[in-house]
Amino acid sequence: MSRTPEKTTVSIIKADVGSLAGHHTVPKPLLDIGEKRLKEAQKNGLINSYYVFHAGDDLELLMVHTRGESNPDIHKLAWDTFKEAAKKASSLKLYGAGQDLLKQAFSGNIRGMGPGVAEMEIEERRSDPIVVFAADKTEPGAYNYPMFRIFADPANTAGLIIDPNMSGGFKFEVLDTVENKKIVLKCPEEMYELIALIGTPGRNVVSRVRRARDDLICATTSTTRLALIAGRYVGKDDPVSIVRAQHGLPALGEILVPFMHSYFVEGWMRGSHWGPLMPVGLKDSRCTLFDGPPRIVALGFQVGNGKIASDDDGVPLISDLFDDPAFDMARREAIEYAAVLRRMGEFEPARLSAEVMEYTTLPQVLEKLRARFKPA
Ligand code: 13P
Ligand code: 13P
Ligand code: MG
Ligand code: MG
Repeated sequence: MSRTPEKTTVSIIKADVGSLAGHHTVPKPLLDIGEKRLKEAQKNGLINSYYVFHAGDDLELLMVHTRGESNPDIHKLAWDTFKEAAKKASSLKLYGAGQDLLKQAFSGNIRGMGPGVAEMEIEERRSDPIVVFAADKTEPGAYNYPMFRIFADPANTAGLIIDPNMSGGFKFEVLDTVENKKIVLKCPEEMYELIALIGTPGRNVVSRVRRARDDLICATTSTTRLALIAGRYVGKDDPVSIVRAQHGLPALGEILVPFMHSYFVEGWMRGSHWGPLMPVGLKDSRCTLFDGPPRIVALGFQVGNGKIASDDDGVPLISDLFDDPAFDMARREAIEYAAVLRRMGEFEPARLSAEVMEYTTLPQVLEKLRARFKPA
């Protein structure tokens, strides 16, 4: 997309470049590389604001700038940062060093190379509250359910009923990640068809949401499917998403209320299980129990004048939204659901379907039995 100078772009680009003690967390030396590189880019004027954090074992680079979506310099900054961090991970012999860097040479766009990308170019409103979500041990379709609740379910979002600025509903762009085709469905009119599609999150992913009456961009998610790029299981996609709030869009609290309860997503141990998604604060953004449960963090901030609103020292004002007792119930539910599923061991539906397991090493195990099958 070409550059539109008067607009502001929020980019979150992430990759698993290696982690500490298995697939559970990103250690400080790698975060420090992210911090150093983005600080430099801010000083050079490439980006205006940034925030480096991690979701489990995924290094997350949040950047705000005025260069538009798919800008080669922004993508190169992320790619070079991941390369340097992967090199550090390698030197420390961290686990899975360079895991998500599937291609060698950077040629202008990081999409399709392994890292996950969500970007949104906006015309700033009077005030622009933004929520960024980042999840670990799951896949892009994990956002289908909350996106539906936030932008289409009047039982979730009171504004759909009582805010005239939302009348007319929202349009969902859905990507079929297997055939690489997309379709736009409008809610409320096509709600049933939308659910028919996005109820299969392993294939169909909500990639963008727009307000129907004026096409205002409201939400965007990363759609990278590592297994489809690599042709085999290399780790889960661990998706990110950007959602805009207020002034004729869902309120912050309406964006967060779908996470009051845990719900099930694909991923977890070896990317091969259904698991309960657990909303956590940044301090608990580590995947431990059976490499999980799959976790999600949410950051709230304001975008204004091409930047993240910051304090007098230039430190971005970021609210760690799930670091809140309001989500204790979801966390408790997630642990209880985890116990129920783990009691089933490797029997479906705790384990993913055979079709999804095609990308894992399971077919190699079954191959050994092939010659022993006799006609029944
Ligand atoms: P806005 O209309 O400014 O988004 O505020 C709605 C509200 O009060 C949220 O609870
Ligand atoms: P990640 O995709 O987060 O690296 O996890 C891989 C895995 O196999 C966990 O068990
Ligand atoms: Mg990993
Ligand atoms: Mg991960």
